[in-house]
Amino acid sequence: MILCAVLSPALDVTYHVDRLQVHDTNRVRTIASRAGGKAVNVARLLRALDEPVTLIATIGGPTGELFAHDLQAAGLAAELVRGDLDTRRTVTVVADDTGDATVFCEPATHADWDTFLERTASSLHAADLVVASGSLPRGVPVDGYAALTRLARDRGVPIIVDTSGPALIAALDAGPQLVKPNLSELIEVTGIEDPLRAATRVARSSGGAVVASLGADGLLAVTPHGAWRATLSRQLRGNPTGAGDAVVAALARGLLAGADWPQLLTSAAALSGAAVLAPCAGEFSADDYAELIGTISVEQLAEMT
Ligand SMILES: Nc1ncnc2c1ncn2[C@@H]1O[C@H](COP(=O)(O)OP(=O)(O)OP(=O)(O)O)[C@@H](O)[C@H]1O
Ligand SMILES: [Mg+2]
Repeated sequence: MILCAVLSPALDVTYHVDRLQVHDTNRVRTIASRAGGKAVNVARLLRALDEPVTLIATIGGPTGELFAHDLQAAGLAAELVRGDLDTRRTVTVVADDTGDATVFCEPATHADWDTFLERTASSLHAADLVVASGSLPRGVPVDGYAALTRLARDRGVPIIVDTSGPALIAALDAGPQLVKPNLSELIEVTGIEDPLRAATRVARSSGGAVVASLGADGLLAVTPHGAWRATLSRQLRGNPTGAGDAVVAALARGLLAGADWPQLLTSAAALSGAAVLAPCAGEFSADDYAELIGTISVEQLAEMT
């Protein structure tokens, strides 16, 4: 089972309006709401790939119960810790005339980090791999991802961390098997503009693998076994939000299956491409995924000294 740790759960609400009018009343045409958060997207993708997955999150209040209900409706197993803060919402207003989205994110605050760590520790006995992704909410110390990494490592469970900034830097010290920054996150934590040099620096500090996602330019991996670059034969137009979560889902699944790096990167580039083509984060069409697999090329790179 893959355990997906959700540090900043949210109920994602989407409003569709004909036209967005600032300083005026906007009539909402349709409302959709669903459980969100980056690790929730990863879990949805893994479930769609028939991979056993369990989420762990701290929720609270009526919004937390809606979050829980939506996970259940999606068939996602979850270990839910009840805290005393109402789960946050995000509201996305989509204007149908332009297709533009305006997003309002309530701040993420973790209600009870120590209990979450304890429950994660006890869930690890059933986990083959952990995915921890998302930004650091208030109430979680900057070494929160590092603490999760140490818990997993102490129990011999590999962990993939997808976060940014100081939380990522702190996590590297704890030695996660894999981190997945995007290009701007990679530059931010290293101060190095060149992706290969920057990823090499990050890989050295963690002692594990780095898969950097470079948007439409594909993926770059620097690992203890070598360095590779994966590219699609064409750029895709669509919704790139959550494409990084698809990279993480594919890598998690492939690592568990014992795939080699070229295979891992091929599936990660294809699944993330399919996610770009899907309208919502956490979704993809199996046909797109199958078609894109054949369009990925993987090239081994000379290692940097
Ligand atoms: N326009 C595109 N065409 C083809 N593939 C894309 C495109 N945009 C993204 N991808 C694929 O998705 C992967 C992840 O994208 P990106 O680097 O934007 O992730 P991210 O910023 O971490 O995303 P998020 O955090 O929203 O999930 C890329 O490495 C690439 O494989
Ligand atoms: Mg990302």
